[in-house]
Amino acid sequence: MADLTTDFVGIKSPNPFWLASAPPTDKEYNVRRAFEAGWGGVVWKTLGAEGPPVVNVNGPRYGAIYGPDRRLMGLNNIELITDRPLETNLEEMARVKADYPDHALIASIMVPCEEEAWKAILPRVMETGADGIELNFGCPHGMSERGMGSAVGQVPEYIEMVTRWCKRYYDRPVIVKLTPNITDIRKPATAAKNGGADAVSLINTINSITSVNLDSMAPEPTIDGKGSHGGYCGPAVKPIALSMVSEIARDAETRGMPISGIGGVTTWRDAAEFMALGAGNVQVCTAAMTYGFRIVEEMKRGLSQWMDEKGYASVAEVVGRAVPNVTDWQYLNLNYVTKARIDQDACIQCGRCYAACEDTSHQAIAMKPGRVFEVIDAECVACNLCVDVCPVEDCITMVEMAPGEVDPRTGRTVEPHYANWTTHPNNPAAVKAAE
Ligand SMILES: Cc1cc2nc3c(=O)[nH]c(=O)nc-3n(C[C@H](O)[C@H](O)[C@H](O)COP(=O)(O)O)c2cc1C
Ligand code: SF4
Ligand code: SF4
Repeated sequence: MADLTTDFVGIKSPNPFWLASAPPTDKEYNVRRAFEAGWGGVVWKTLGAEGPPVVNVNGPRYGAIYGPDRRLMGLNNIELITDRPLETNLEEMARVKADYPDHALIASIMVPCEEEAWKAILPRVMETGADGIELNFGCPHGMSERGMGSAVGQVPEYIEMVTRWCKRYYDRPVIVKLTPNITDIRKPATAAKNGGADAVSLINTINSITSVNLDSMAPEPTIDGKGSHGGYCGPAVKPIALSMVSEIARDAETRGMPISGIGGVTTWRDAAEFMALGAGNVQVCTAAMTYGFRIVEEMKRGLSQWMDEKGYASVAEVVGRAVPNVTDWQYLNLNYVTKARIDQDACIQCGRCYAACEDTSHQAIAMKPGRVFEVIDAECVACNLCVDVCPVEDCITMVEMAPGEVDPRTGRTVEPHYANWTTHPNNPAAVKAAE
């Protein structure tokens, strides 16, 4: 059976599934039950500085986006960091860590952007025996207006500065949690590295307004007639997170930096995808909030089975496997030609592929008598839209043309060799380079 144990920047855990800093990790009661349910680690709900705890709203703090079957696709929240006293959290963390020495326990921290504030909290966190800290530079609401969270995460110089302080006053691993509310994720990741971070974790939540109530004319969730932007997470954000993780994994400045992947992980497959793109482990929030702690059982079982099937003996063997295959558009093979193919036996004749291709793509699907839908190869540009809209899985597939065949759309013979935009005759830059 595949070995799921992980060593992430020296922090060992029985499996790569950690709960992200959020309500599931808010208190001892939750975390103990999470470990009993099988989670490999937790990042404790973000701690704030000593003093009066933050105050949350008393109205609804979540909003949601659903798929047609009311499956939760995206979750929005306006919750702040922990609203419990620092001392209570620290005492609970110490107790839990003592009872679960083999599980990873990370303290997430967000204090003002002043050296004294970090210097004051770090020794206290150290005393709990926590395995490391995660710097919350990501929270996009509430705390950012107070100069913390994403207000720090959006300024690479601040990230580097605070990370340096943490490395100075704390001798265990420092993970910097990045905000996706930024144009180029490589900049904050590089800043974290320059500050001495042991790893980055991403993504925190994305600025969002889930919906507007058209009766009250207020954003939802609505607090006494008003709403504010919140942080978006859940399955809907996974593609954004995967892209950002891959950017860090393949950038010359940050390549090889340990990454904890976060954003929409709901199944073992999501986790495997993050790992393939360079994440050493994953963190989960929305899936646990939606389905409960036991969802980790499927994650562990599924990952282990898949690894056995593929012959991967350890998680480390999966990490980064897909990174060499992430490239820029200009390097994609322009001699790779495919055509859509419809499996007539699987087709339920709904006509969605026809409507999509006829109205918004290349008029490459013919509707024949008896509602038989067929692809017109001479028109098909292989855009994949019909595959994406077809309600029957694998009913339409994209089939590669063999070298030597003639593409009836272009009249050109499919070439066997790889050729990309950088050398294409239509590329003015390529022509110039050849001269
Ligand atoms: C209600 C809620 C509260 C959160 N609180 C925190 C927090 O205190 N600190 C933090 O770093 N991230 C916080 N997050 C963000 C999560 O840790 C995580 O980065 C994000 O939800 C993406 O993961 P997911 O798609 O699995 O939910 C919170 C998320 C939610 C939904
Ligand atoms: S791949 Fe695109 S162009 Fe080809 S049939 Fe499908 S929708 Fe039409
Ligand atoms: S969308 Fe799929 S099921 Fe519907 S007609 Fe087209 S091929 Fe058939």
